[in-house]
Amino acid sequence: MTKVVAINGSPRMEKGNTAMVLTSFLQGMTDAGSDVELYYAGRLQVKPCTGEMLCWYENAGQCYIKDEMQALYPRLSEADILVLATPVYIPLPGEMQNLINRLCPLVEPLLETRGGRTRARFREHVKIRKIALVSTGGWWEKGNFRTVVCIAQELAENAGVEFAGAVLRPHASLMREHGELTSDGKAVLEAARRAGYELVQEGEMSDKTLEAIGRPLISEEELRHRLNQASQRAARRSSG
Ligand SMILES: Cc1cc2nc3c(=O)[nH]c(=O)nc-3n(C[C@H](O)[C@H](O)[C@H](O)COP(=O)(O)O)c2cc1C
Repeated sequence: MTKVVAINGSPRMEKGNTAMVLTSFLQGMTDAGSDVELYYAGRLQVKPCTGEMLCWYENAGQCYIKDEMQALYPRLSEADILVLATPVYIPLPGEMQNLINRLCPLVEPLLETRGGRTRARFREHVKIRKIALVSTGGWWEKGNFRTVVCIAQELAENAGVEFAGAVLRPHASLMREHGELTSDGKAVLEAARRAGYELVQEGEMSDKTLEAIGRPLISEEELRHRLNQASQRAARRSSG
């Protein structure tokens, strides 16, 4: 059975846009027969990496910081697929970056050159073979995800595992209206479920499915107009 560990880095946790898309994606993975565990970076007590590199040069593979990361290390090592889920926060919410930095003990301190870049693989006991990204953003265009996608891609390439692709949902807040899912929102979530299913069942997500998840819900001009109106209303309220 494929084991999946997913980490949601959204500070809004369950009520966020990222959770909405991730829940459907993970449901698809479960439907395809995988065993899924979900963690919220914002709920785990994870201190920042202090950069001593003791996990590389003193106590191989052991982080000296005794916090909730210690329970997560074995869960991560046992996973076949790691799903990183995050909103775009130019580039990441702090809790997510914190957790990513703390993955260092899982990496073997043996540097190699691959494709002209210095890389270091996951340690032998780490079973992760794929890293997938689920991300939501507020603005219109998918260009907003460039940095976040790069981070997930770099993590995978560095560790010598496959980057399994990115489930990207721009202007994600339009999936709900007055707290209720819109019909567009439902279609996006159904496509997200399909993406999770495909990843486990077929080993990859189809372009068609990823496009259905990320397709524009309104025009760029209309979104800008709505968001600017909302901020003008807020400015008027705060000026009394
Ligand atoms: C500090 C901050 C920075 C953000 N920066 C961007 C950005 O650069 N591009 C973008 O598309 N959305 C940006 N957003 C919007 C969020 O990515 C978007 O609303 C996302 O869907 C929130 O997900 P969540 O509800 O799971 O937290 C930003 C939001 C915050 C709070």
